[in-house]
Amino acid sequence: MPIKASTPSSVLLVCLGNICRSPTAEEIFRQQAAIAGLSMKVDSAGTGDWHIGHAPDERAQRHAKAHGYNINKLVARQISADDFRDFDLILAMDAQNLANLQSIKNGITDTDTKLAKLALFSEEDPIYGGDDVPDPYTGDSNAFEEVIERIESSVQGWIESWKI
Ligand code: 4NP
Repeated sequence: MPIKASTPSSVLLVCLGNICRSPTAEEIFRQQAAIAGLSMKVDSAGTGDWHIGHAPDERAQRHAKAHGYNINKLVARQISADDFRDFDLILAMDAQNLANLQSIKNGITDTDTKLAKLALFSEEDPIYGGDDVPDPYTGDSNAFEEVIERIESSVQGWIESWKI
């Protein structure tokens, strides 16, 4: 598909723990971008450090798999300042994580480096635009299903926004 010159070549998805929402978003983004013919580096990270080195939450793995997304091999990591230098676009799953990312970005003082653009993950979503992807960690199975539905919709919104 013909795409805008401003289309990012790398995207980082960020939630709190990097074990539920953002690994799910990473795999959905990767698959949908490939289907759209977009060549893009896709990764995920958490703003928190509790789950560094862990596989995704088992519930997230199970719900993702039921929708055709295998996230079993992903490993949680924490966002670092270098991510703002290495990625074109960083997307926060909710407003709280967006605020935390903004303050990390504000703390980066080298002015000669181009830093990632920051946005809310739902920003281009025609249905859920402006919403948080609610944290499912203490929720039930419906919460994990809702995460997948919202992520699929918002990923499509981004891909549509890059089409000419
Ligand atoms: P996530 O979910 O941000 O979607 O990965 C969470 C995972 C763990 C915690 C919170 C949210 N936690 O508090 O440990």
